[in-house]
Amino acid sequence: MKFSKTQSYSLLAAMVAVASTAAAHRHSAQPFGPEIVRRDARASSAITADFFGTQSLFAGGSLQDPKKIATNFVEQRLTSSEYIVKNAYTSKHNGVTHVYLRQVINGLEVVNGDINVNVDRDGNVISYGDSFYQGPKNQRGSLSIKEWIQQESENLVEQGRQFTFGGRGRRSSTRRQTPIKGPVSKAAISPQKALLSFTDFLHMRIPHPEDMDITTRPSLHGDKDEVVVTNYPFAVDDKVPVAQAYIQTGDGGLELVYDFQVKMKNSDNWFHTQVSAVTGDVMQVVDWVSDATFNVYPMGVNDPLDGDRKMVVDPEHKDASPLGWNRQDQNKNFTTTIGNNVYAGENRRNGNDWQNNPKPEGRLTKKGQLVFDFEIDLEKDPITYVDAAVTNLFYWNNQMHDVFHHYGFDEETGNFQENNFGRGGLGNDAVIANAQDGSGFNNANFATPPDGQHGQMRMYVWDVTEIARDGDLESGIIIHEYAHGISTRLTGGPANSGCLVWGEAGGMGEGWGDFFATMFRLNESHDYKSEFDMGSYSNGGQGIRRFPYSTSMQTNPETFKIMDGQAYWEVHAKGEVWAEMLFEVYQNLRLLLPFTDDWYTNDKTDYANTLVLQLVVDGMKLQPCMPTFIQARDAILQAEWLLTSGKYQCDIWRAFAKRGLGSKARVIGGNLPIGGFRIESFEVPSNCN
Ligand SMILES: *[C@@H]1O[C@H](CO)[C@@H](O)[C@H](O)[C@H]1NC(C)=O
Ligand SMILES: *[C@@H]1O[C@H](CO)[C@@H](O)[C@H](O)[C@H]1NC(C)=O
Ligand SMILES: [Zn+2]
Repeated sequence: MKFSKTQSYSLLAAMVAVASTAAAHRHSAQPFGPEIVRRDARASSAITADFFGTQSLFAGGSLQDPKKIATNFVEQRLTSSEYIVKNAYTSKHNGVTHVYLRQVINGLEVVNGDINVNVDRDGNVISYGDSFYQGPKNQRGSLSIKEWIQQESENLVEQGRQFTFGGRGRRSSTRRQTPIKGPVSKAAISPQKALLSFTDFLHMRIPHPEDMDITTRPSLHGDKDEVVVTNYPFAVDDKVPVAQAYIQTGDGGLELVYDFQVKMKNSDNWFHTQVSAVTGDVMQVVDWVSDATFNVYPMGVNDPLDGDRKMVVDPEHKDASPLGWNRQDQNKNFTTTIGNNVYAGENRRNGNDWQNNPKPEGRLTKKGQLVFDFEIDLEKDPITYVDAAVTNLFYWNNQMHDVFHHYGFDEETGNFQENNFGRGGLGNDAVIANAQDGSGFNNANFATPPDGQHGQMRMYVWDVTEIARDGDLESGIIIHEYAHGISTRLTGGPANSGCLVWGEAGGMGEGWGDFFATMFRLNESHDYKSEFDMGSYSNGGQGIRRFPYSTSMQTNPETFKIMDGQAYWEVHAKGEVWAEMLFEVYQNLRLLLPFTDDWYTNDKTDYANTLVLQLVVDGMKLQPCMPTFIQARDAILQAEWLLTSGKYQCDIWRAFAKRGLGSKARVIGGNLPIGGFRIESFEVPSNCN
């Protein structure tokens, strides 16, 4: 446990229990949920005291430089280990500086030893995460890479050749002496041998080095910038860069490894692997395949009744997923629904060992294109088309990852990725997405631990209709669930998963999901009169919310004060009101601006749908932990000022005011788990009249 719990933790848990029990008694028809909010030892819990206030874990005092404050904090409170500062940057909109450290032992980086520290604009450390290696336990090491080069050089000198070694340009730490030492025993696997061990791991064959001429066999070369293994026939240019590093093992130990980046010839595979320098065991491998085709209900199509499936080619967005969506799994399969952003599999047996969830095998064409194309017969039970379902689930989770990356839910703000490409934040937290999960029916849920731990999405089969339907085919449900991950990580910071747990805050946590689901089913032909249900495909043709999302007060009469009623004490009900308000905001903007189906446009402010998405995402970052409706509205209005200088202030005000959240709206007890008394207002600020 690295963080001191605050008082509000236990209070919170008790109140959540009250709220959800109360809700369970009142609703027989189950909306999506209940949501699992997991707390973890690595969670920071900087609960905000007022709108932009924060609780300080450490005050910088007279220090001005946030980087210095962060490193002082780390050295005084967390560790005496050496480290290097990998990244440090300041978010313009809130003044928070994010500082990322990588552990260094004996001059080598620990590939999975990271600390991140967040410093507010007043110089207070407000949250952090720590995965540094803590102590001895099972250290295993070997010769340094330099010694191997030395040996190689002696061999080559015999052959009349010579080269020099200048090291890999490692930044040595300037920190004071550390009591944490890495292993220095002289076990012996050369980098070349380790690379061959990795080759074996891929089931590829290469002649044994001893059987080859010394000038043509894989050998080690160093110059001042990098060390490479040459004569490696499977790699581009026959060359593989290698570095030494440490890796923390599952049992808390530390092992010396060679770190290879292997760009394969004749395929799109690009491996990043760490191989033990002691045993030659492959400790970790990441593999990327950049081209893939998916037969899915694509962006703009909500479900099988809303449109047809389509073969979508290379849908990934290069900024968000630079190496594609697919990668190798632990069984050395290259063709499954596993990747940097999402691990999608079937979990009908309701297991917790998600690594073993069956996954569809894509077909690898001669050109190296992965094809996921599976039959669906909707007249049959969902089990018969589970591969198509997992494919759709994989596609939509990745879409959400990539699109929201474009709108600022990225590595440093806590998104879900295994590898963060050195762009900040914590990795190792792709979403685990379970299709046809055996833990329930007629629902879905999402668990959001803090940044650095896997989110988990569980999608259920719906047995409302005679022939069961599969929520995995309804993107609106997938989007709703993924949105929990986005709103939870963006509200209160990536390391804090406790900011949207009940009351109006919890309600908006539901509402954003419905709103995003509605946005991603839109196309150009929808207009001010268009109406949208949630979950109606899965639920047999009837939406699961009380009213469709609509600008008509007849179709959807919900306003702010309606939440005083008992029927709205539960979070999903409050979520309807919030989603309806956001829908009104979108529709008001749509009256002024066109729609684009290019969600990746760089001209986001030119289109109603991209503008509203940006404002809503920015609002999440601006609002405090446990926001009320009023605070979240103000955050969106502030986001608009920041982005478009007030051009649409009054249009946004009019949308909220139409639904009772106008300028004079007030609330007493809005952030109690249940109840509250609201004064609604249909007024806009006087400058908008
Ligand atoms: C994937 O890995 C598993 C376990 O090693 C194996 O049984 C299965 O045949 C593999 N699939 C392919 C296509 O290689
Ligand atoms: C837009 O979506 C609707 C379903 O909501 C569909 O009927 C219509 O064909 C779509 N229009 C276009 C231009 O894609
Ligand atoms: Zn939900």
